[in-house]
Amino acid sequence: MQTSARALTLSLLGRRATAPSITALMRMALETPGLLSLAAGFTDNASLPVTAVAEALRRVASEAPDRGYLQYGTNAGRPGLRVGLAERLLRQDGRAGEADYPTERARWAERIFVTNGSQQALYLAIQTLCDPGDIILVDRPTYFVFLDLLAGLGVEARSLPVDSTGRIDAEALRAMLKAMRADGSRQRLKAVYFIGWFSNPSGRSLQAGEGRALAEVLRAEDCVVPVIEDAAYRELGYEAGSASARAGVLSDPAWDGFPRLYCGTLTKPFATGLKIGFGVCDHDGWRAAMLHVKGHQDFGSGNFAQALLEEAITSGAYDEQLAVLRRVYRAKRDALNQALEAGGLPALGWRWAVPAGGLYLWLEGPAGLDTASDSEFCRACLREGVLYVPGALCHGDVPPRHTVRLSFGVLSPEGLAEAAARFCRAAKAIGASLRGA
Ligand SMILES: Cc1ncc(COP(=O)(O)O)c(C=O)c1O
Repeated sequence: MQTSARALTLSLLGRRATAPSITALMRMALETPGLLSLAAGFTDNASLPVTAVAEALRRVASEAPDRGYLQYGTNAGRPGLRVGLAERLLRQDGRAGEADYPTERARWAERIFVTNGSQQALYLAIQTLCDPGDIILVDRPTYFVFLDLLAGLGVEARSLPVDSTGRIDAEALRAMLKAMRADGSRQRLKAVYFIGWFSNPSGRSLQAGEGRALAEVLRAEDCVVPVIEDAAYRELGYEAGSASARAGVLSDPAWDGFPRLYCGTLTKPFATGLKIGFGVCDHDGWRAAMLHVKGHQDFGSGNFAQALLEEAITSGAYDEQLAVLRRVYRAKRDALNQALEAGGLPALGWRWAVPAGGLYLWLEGPAGLDTASDSEFCRACLREGVLYVPGALCHGDVPPRHTVRLSFGVLSPEGLAEAAARFCRAAKAIGASLRGA
C-alpha cells in the first residue's frame, strides 16, 4: 500500500501528543542485540498465572452456559467484579469489621468503574477535569507516562515540593500555593495526583502523616481540589499485609470534602495482558462525567478479562498469585541491589533506598553526572549493553540530571546480576572521567 502524501491538519490533541518518552528507549532495546534492559516497566514473564487463568476460564465457561462472558458487558463493568474489588479495598483500608460493612460495600461497588488498565482511569480523570493550560500537582519524581498524558492534553505538571529525604515539604507547599494565588495560577490548579504505595519510579510509599499534612495545607490554602491516588503497586508490597499499613484517600478522614478518585489495577498484581484496572470515585458528578467519556471511548472494558478476574478473585487464585509475585520480586530486588553493591556503586558516590515493594530501584548518581538519554553516561551503558530510564523523564519541573530508574520486573536474577555488572562498569568509566574533569 502506498502512503498518502496528502497534507493533513491534525487536531490540537493530535499535534500535541508526541511519542511517549519511553518509546525511544524501547526501540533502542529492540534494535541492540544482547542489550539487557533495566528500563521497561514490564512484569516477570515466568510467573504469569497460566494455570490459574486456564482454570478460571474452565469455571467461567462451565458456570455460564449463556456465554455472557464473551458478550459485551456494561460501561461501568461487571457487578460481581466490582463487589469483589469493593471487598478487597475495604479490607485493605481496615474497614471490613465495621458495623455498616454491607452498606459500605454496596456503596463502594456502586462507585467503582472498571477500566482498560488504571491508565484509562487516569486519562478519564484528567480529560474530565482539565482544559489546556490547567495545572496538576504531582509527586517529585512521578510516573512519567502520566507526565506524557498531561503534556498530550496540554496540562501543566507542577511538582509537590519535597525535603532532602524525598518527603512532601508541607511548609514549602504552603508557600507555593500562596505564590500561585498571588500570580493568579491558583485558578488553574485542578487536582493533586500522587502514588500512594511503592512508587514508580522512587519506590517510596506515602506516610500517613505526610498525606494528612498534604490535605491540611491544601484545605488551609483554600485548595479543596480533586485528589487522585494511584495505587498501582499497593498489592505488590513484599510483606503480606503491607497494603493495609495506611488507609487510602477514600477512607482517610483527612481528605473528607475533597472529590476523591482512587485508581487501582489488576495488571501488575496478576496478569498485565488482561489489562484491567479500575477507578473508585466518591464525587457523583465527576464519576458520571468519566463514565460518559468512557462510554464514548469503548462503552465497557473487555468483559472476558473481567470475568476471568472476577473468578480468580472469588476462588482465591488472585491472592495465591500475589503471594508468588511477592516472593519473585523480593528475590529480584535483592539480586539487583546486591549486584549493584558488589559492583562498587556506593564507593562511586551512588545512593539508593531499598524499597519494600514494587518493581523499581531509584538511584541518585554522583553530583555532576548527567544520565539523560543523549549523555556520555547513557552511551557508555549502551556500549556495555545495558539500558535504564533517565530520571529526568520523571519530573514535572526542572529535573535533576543525575538520577536513574532501574526496573527489576523483567530480567531473571542472573540477568539482573549481569545487567548490574554492566551498569557498574559504565559508572566506573564515566566516574573516572568526572573526577578527571
Ligand atoms: C504508577 C502507575 N500507575 C498506573 C499504571 C498503569 O498501569 P495499568 O494500566 O496496567 O493498570 C502504571 C503502569 O506502569 C504505573 O506504573
